[in-house]
Amino acid sequence: MTTVRVKVLRFDPSTEAAPHFEEYLVPYTEKMRVLDALNYIHEHHDGSLAYRWVCRAAQCGSCTVMVDGKPGPACKTEIPAGTEAITIEPLRTFPVIKDLVVDTDRAYSRFEAIQPYVQRPEVNARPELMLPGEVEEIKSLRSCIECFACLSACPVVNEIQEEYLGPMGMRKLAELSQDRRDTQDRVAMALASGMYNCTTCKNCWAVCPQEIKVPEKAVEKLRAMALRKGVPPLPPHKVAIASIRNYWNPWMAPRAQRARWAKPYELPTKCETMFFAGCSPSLLKQNLVESVVRIFRAMDEPIGYLGKEERCCSSPLLRVGEVTMFEEMAKANIENMRKAGAKRVVVTCAGCYKAWKEDYPEHFGEPGFEVLHISQILEGAIASGRLRLKAVPENEVTITYHDPCHLGRAGGIYDAPRNVLRAVPGISLREMSRNRENSACCGSGGGVKTARPNLATSIGARRLDMVKETNAQEVVSCCPWCEQNIEDSIKSAGSGEWKVRDLVDIVCAALE
Ligand code: SF4
Ligand code: SF4
Ligand code: FES
Repeated sequence: MTTVRVKVLRFDPSTEAAPHFEEYLVPYTEKMRVLDALNYIHEHHDGSLAYRWVCRAAQCGSCTVMVDGKPGPACKTEIPAGTEAITIEPLRTFPVIKDLVVDTDRAYSRFEAIQPYVQRPEVNARPELMLPGEVEEIKSLRSCIECFACLSACPVVNEIQEEYLGPMGMRKLAELSQDRRDTQDRVAMALASGMYNCTTCKNCWAVCPQEIKVPEKAVEKLRAMALRKGVPPLPPHKVAIASIRNYWNPWMAPRAQRARWAKPYELPTKCETMFFAGCSPSLLKQNLVESVVRIFRAMDEPIGYLGKEERCCSSPLLRVGEVTMFEEMAKANIENMRKAGAKRVVVTCAGCYKAWKEDYPEHFGEPGFEVLHISQILEGAIASGRLRLKAVPENEVTITYHDPCHLGRAGGIYDAPRNVLRAVPGISLREMSRNRENSACCGSGGGVKTARPNLATSIGARRLDMVKETNAQEVVSCCPWCEQNIEDSIKSAGSGEWKVRDLVDIVCAALE
């Protein structure tokens, strides 16, 4: 019989000063759930273990715990065959009552304060029925089982609990705002509940047993509703929106400046493989875009570029709710790529990737060309031998890789950058405690870096702690926003020794 070593964080605040781990051996059974393991421990090892469960069917939301650092309902979380050990802890951010039982009263009373039910006057002039299309639109939002997993996973709730209602509440407000029977101003409530603090990191979605897309279906939806109702955007967002409208980039840089980096390369404007350089790489990190071109030259593969016709991918617009302008800009980008004869569009920024890969098709359907992140190109080229890398002295480093939220959770790209890094001679890769789909947000997305830079760097400081735990010398990522925010977090934390690099720069430095 195989057994699993189950480490449980035990704590009785009424008698103990601090929590401690206890380890139990649990016989493994096929398709075993975490709750089965807890029940076994309770029955065979220690009847005093405190944990909650009721329905055993992922419906009541009572059994949520952290399993190997990720929150989820114990009754739904399967222990995969072959697992040697797992760690079970109480939900992060909630005070512990005993062992795995946490106090959700405070979070729940904040949730109750938004009156999370259809509100209407006694004599209701509005239709009492919702139309089928409307029900469909909010169906997923209504499926919440109030398990609190998303609150525990949310980097903003973890940082400023009192200033952000969190994903569970945002979901409810979005649901009620689209319910024709409800007469409350749910958008105003969302504003007062800190809706602009969400980084759109998708951590809530990644842990949600109902797979509710809170960032897109709730937060971005509420932000769009606010703009449509005439609520002015936050002043820094207003500046960025105006800049994108006038200059096609959020950095107030004249349009002609965008393509300046490409002059020496004389890239064609029509090609089967087109490079979408993006605003931040083109205007703030020219070494990055130049590295992409050098890599394509090293592979002896042609690459085209729209030049000054390229517009912001407009991810920043969508994130802050400016849907109409997003659609105009996105349409122009797609049309230009079609005119250029693109069979594939290559991007290097995680924000651009989410826009091209997920948001454009959502708004306009499939564009008729492939969208690839540069890490995928590099992975393929290295594997096939089209790209050969040599060891260079400065590459003799231990590095850790930060998954950008919009490349990882949003795009599902986890292996390509890691495989590329492993292929660079002299680099050894060390994972952070939170990685891949459970990776922690750096804090910069969703317009937070622009409007609340201090919040962005304080979330970034938490990520930096995870970087430090690895004892790696450098942190590498695939997103100029993440890289900038991690750099800023390093500066504000006074940890000047850390180097932050982009994957592309590392590969470019190792070209033979
Ligand atoms: S997307 Fe991230 S920041 Fe926004 S509510 Fe979800 S977990 Fe929180
Ligand atoms: S949104 Fe999902 S994760 Fe959050 S409380 Fe509801 S069911 Fe749980
Ligand atoms: S016991 Fe009800 S959700 Fe797990």
